[in-house]
Amino acid sequence: MTKQRIHTTIDAEAYHILQKYEEQWGGKNAVLEAALKGLDQGHKAQLDIKIYEKIGRKSTGIPTLDQMIEGGIPKNFVVIVTGTPGTGKTTFGMQFLVEGIKNGERGIFFSFEEDSEQLANHCLRFGWNLREYAEKGQLLIYGLSMITVNDVIEVVQDYKPSRIVIDSINLLTDFGSSNKLRENSMLRNLLKLLKRERVTTIITTEKTHGLEKKAFDQFDFMGDGLIFLDRTTVNDMDVFLIKVQKMRGTKINGQTKVFEMTDQGIVVSLDFSPGIFDIK
Ligand SMILES: Nc1ncnc2c1ncn2[C@@H]1O[C@H](COP(=O)(O)OP(=O)(O)OP(=O)(O)O)[C@@H](O)[C@H]1O
Ligand SMILES: [Mg+2]
Repeated sequence: MTKQRIHTTIDAEAYHILQKYEEQWGGKNAVLEAALKGLDQGHKAQLDIKIYEKIGRKSTGIPTLDQMIEGGIPKNFVVIVTGTPGTGKTTFGMQFLVEGIKNGERGIFFSFEEDSEQLANHCLRFGWNLREYAEKGQLLIYGLSMITVNDVIEVVQDYKPSRIVIDSINLLTDFGSSNKLRENSMLRNLLKLLKRERVTTIITTEKTHGLEKKAFDQFDFMGDGLIFLDRTTVNDMDVFLIKVQKMRGTKINGQTKVFEMTDQGIVVSLDFSPGIFDIK
């Protein structure tokens, strides 16, 4: 009797799905591999959707934004939040952490722009008492830190947070142009760790141009998601804008929306169109 050969190979489509989740889960997954084996196209797509649903999502703390991305940021994602100066990046990041804290999740905020005192005072205006969260062990803040990528990795492994914000990566990785190779390998290590430690991360980056220009930098391609913040003037009014450029595995509403800075933080309101604030 001939021995039946066991096929362990899977096709390219299934391999792509397998690789995506193994990267996120940080290891080989024989159960998923077996499940993908022999499935036809339609069933593979269904399985892919089911896994995403099972992974779950993290609310951003901005209800209208959550609705634009099927309920929130998929767990274990790294999302880039980018914009020109003063467009709300730091506030966005802190709102994301505070939302986690309200749900019993721990967070770490790495600030390379502001010291922790200033940050805490600024956040009081939104009703977020960072000092209290820190005292209760729900939040760690590294303000104006002179820390390296390796320090970030160590702190994350020690504290085991659910959510992290790095504000901003441009300052963390600013080694000068002569060290591009070192910079790239450190960034890769950081991303690998964030995936392995099962954290959901917001990384802010700085842009020198707004939404009007379709131009992307190396960081924009790095994340699983990309959210643009911008600020413009319409009829002498200062208007904040937000646009979800990408969110992997998610049907997004990619419209540009208007947001406001309220005493509860960022609130997304209307769709943006050039005539939106015309006086009738
Ligand atoms: N309570 C508030 N009400 C209205 N506007 C506010 C309030 N707090 C902050 N702002 C405005 O929001 C802007 C953006 O805040 P934030 O610090 O989050 O932006 P950022 O993109 O991180 O800025 P930077 O480029 O300096 O890091 C501030 O410059 C300020 O004009
Ligand atoms: Mg900032």
